[in-house]
Amino acid sequence: MLPALPFLALVSAAQAIPFPFKFLGWNTQIPFQPSVFSVYPPKDESGWVDPRVLGGQFIDVSPLLRTGLPLTPNPAQFTTPRYGEPLNVIISNLSDPFVLTDEGFRWYYKSIGFSEECLGLHYGHVHKADLGDGDGRKSEHILARQHYFPRWGTCWETLIGGNHFRAWKQNGTDASTGAWFLGASKEQDSTRHHMIVPNGYNIGRDLLVQSAISGSSWKGMSWVTDVEWRDGLLEPGFKGINHAIAQDGRIAILTVHRV
Ligand SMILES: *[C@@H]1O[C@H](CO)[C@@H](O)[C@H](O)[C@H]1NC(C)=O
Ligand SMILES: *[C@@H]1O[C@H](CO)[C@@H](O)[C@H](O)[C@H]1NC(C)=O
Repeated sequence: MLPALPFLALVSAAQAIPFPFKFLGWNTQIPFQPSVFSVYPPKDESGWVDPRVLGGQFIDVSPLLRTGLPLTPNPAQFTTPRYGEPLNVIISNLSDPFVLTDEGFRWYYKSIGFSEECLGLHYGHVHKADLGDGDGRKSEHILARQHYFPRWGTCWETLIGGNHFRAWKQNGTDASTGAWFLGASKEQDSTRHHMIVPNGYNIGRDLLVQSAISGSSWKGMSWVTDVEWRDGLLEPGFKGINHAIAQDGRIAILTVHRV
């Protein structure tokens, strides 16, 4: 266990700095407030196609149910995968075309404080999502984690937990819109094995959206982002959701413009 010591020291050092973490939602637990809702049938959307039209859904599929220590396979999911994480953010194809490319999306998510895995350390399981684009369930294309402050680097996130997202591109031949579908969530620190915090799906989404709509830039490229909030695409609650963590069913549709 000795090699773990510097790691733990870093963790507690980070936890001793309350301000930036509180400010950015660290340890914030907004109680879930059930609301009256209905889920509407899919209709024509501009900038993306509703995955439900062709049998997809706004929940991804995770191969393992992470219930704590150690990771526990959930046998039910191998036969009938039903639990996953909400796809709670969409980047519409009405965005700047560069953002719809792999490279441009990376530039954009770096501008809003996310980056790829810390030092290539990949501890998450690959999730799959069916975006209704004819590809069926496909593995995530991107997993990115939030820097608390860009200059601190992703490693901070890896040590103390925080915000991350998985992303899939809607580019199967049946609905090749190029839109990005994201599942954002906020985790506990790594000593808790990356469990999603209570209300972590809503918090993760809201932090990402807040960062996006504040305007951003990275390496001299600047962006403004509009958001449209949508109810009625995803049922609120915890049905089908990993860890039985309720989410409010709201999906943020982002349109990113280069300025
Ligand atoms: C953007 O998405 C719409 C569906 O809402 C689709 O009809 C259109 O072809 C897409 N545009 C591009 C450039 O892929
Ligand atoms: C779909 O998009 C992903 C992510 O950009 C890419 O890796 C994949 O090759 C694309 N698939 C096709 C058929 O273009």
